[in-house]
Amino acid sequence: MRASCTLSLILDLFDAPRHPSWSVEIVNAKDDNNSLRPDQQRVEGTGGKDGQQAGQTTAEPFRPFHEKTIVFSGIQPTGVPHLGNYLGALRQWKLLHDNSAHPSLKGKKKPMQYFSVVDLHALTSEAPGPDRLRLRKESYAALLAIGLKNTRQTTLFFQSDVRYHTELMWILSTIASTGYLSRMTQWKSKLNLPDDANLDSDEATAKLKLGLFSYPVLQAADILLYEASLVPVGEDQLQHIEFARTLARGFNSHVKNSPDGSNVFRIPSAALSPAKRIMSLKRPTQKMSKSDSDPKSRILITDSYEDIHAKIRAAVTDSEPGISYDLEKRPGVSNLIEILRHVTTIAETPDTIAKDLQYMTMRGLKEMVADNIAECLSGIRENFLELMEPGNRTFYDEVSIGAGKAEQKARVTMRRVRESLGLNTFGTRLDTPKIDEVEDVGADGDANVNANDFNVGPIHPESDTDGPQTTEKAILEALQGIGQSYGGSYRVSAGGKDPSRKS
Ligand code: TYM
Repeated sequence: MRASCTLSLILDLFDAPRHPSWSVEIVNAKDDNNSLRPDQQRVEGTGGKDGQQAGQTTAEPFRPFHEKTIVFSGIQPTGVPHLGNYLGALRQWKLLHDNSAHPSLKGKKKPMQYFSVVDLHALTSEAPGPDRLRLRKESYAALLAIGLKNTRQTTLFFQSDVRYHTELMWILSTIASTGYLSRMTQWKSKLNLPDDANLDSDEATAKLKLGLFSYPVLQAADILLYEASLVPVGEDQLQHIEFARTLARGFNSHVKNSPDGSNVFRIPSAALSPAKRIMSLKRPTQKMSKSDSDPKSRILITDSYEDIHAKIRAAVTDSEPGISYDLEKRPGVSNLIEILRHVTTIAETPDTIAKDLQYMTMRGLKEMVADNIAECLSGIRENFLELMEPGNRTFYDEVSIGAGKAEQKARVTMRRVRESLGLNTFGTRLDTPKIDEVEDVGADGDANVNANDFNVGPIHPESDTDGPQTTEKAILEALQGIGQSYGGSYRVSAGGKDPSRKS
């Protein structure tokens, strides 16, 4: 099963650069409670040849990840993911997954990635039991449908299958500042409260449940349990990653050091994809979201070609003549141009793309955008439908493999956390590996795992003692992999072709 954004040139409307420079932002949050806005650091470098997908064989030497990179990210099972989820996060997950199995890494300790369907987080929004069961299955199947699966490097699991998430959440909550949590925006937006709402407001406290308020603490536990150095997310998650960094630092200094003298937690960094915020098709000043009551506001990654076209045709634009990019005056058209840019991975600015298409009709632009989205998502729908068939065992097999692998990794971290807090009744266990010393599941190699590859034998400590200080380098190298994907071109359908242009 394979589904990917095809970068092959069908028709170049303009000369897209074939050796693009890429830019992906890693975000170093300030450990400062007064400011919830993180500093953003732009990282630039040279992309791959001819816009090839990271992980493909290129004439240029492949630059592998730093060996210590551990990636964690999650998605709520609130339905089939939409295009915003895909471009902002899931496509990056797939690139990281593909890159980690690159042949040039043979014989080396490879990066690891943990991707979770965070079903405990989803309990903070309403969904009756039977619906929840279906939504969980759909979400996990959607990840399989984009080409992710459990391998030696990748673990795909349900959060609720690993009990350590909630244990660590409790421990972290003993040092989490309620002042900080009260300034965070998610609980307010979920309750339709203004951004400046606080706990002094009766309206806020009447609606607010502890689970929603402490949601970021659980998210921090997710990340820290897996020693993640890199968390690929969309922009809306930055505040949560910043909070996780603050908690990790706070905990490290709270317990002073773990018994062996090293830090207990690694400090994670967020990695933003170029498509950090895809907007709603119906309300283009708001982000595309699963919770929007209008299904036409979003493209699902399993939508059919016809559905994609119908939704894009119905997308809110304006009656200005021609095409231009202006986020304030023309948010709808600008969103379509952004989407076009991201689905094709074209390495031009939205302004340049808009100038190139300035004489096109709105109908033509919509046709073109819809065609390119369909191309980008091709194969996912078919894979998904196959996985959802009642007799298909893949889902169940993958879920059980993922649960075992994730549990094994999380257990080791929890052992270290418990020891650092003096919760180890029988004294320090000498076999507890230090941070960075854990051999991840299975022996080295690219083969897939099966259920017997984990939960057997001890976890072997290694002598390498790289600490969290190496994280920055790890991120830069990992991002080279992510960024390589920008450099495509777009496809022009008969309907979308601009007659005034020479092709
Ligand atoms: P969730 O389920 O809302 O979204 C999953 C991922 O999709 C990104 N995303 C978008 N990116 C671009 N444009 C959009 N319109 C858009 N909408 C969503 C999100 O930024 C996210 O990366 N709290 C998280 C889940 C979570 C998590 C974690 C993530 C729980 N624990 C630990 C990272 C690490 C959430 O609700 O994502």
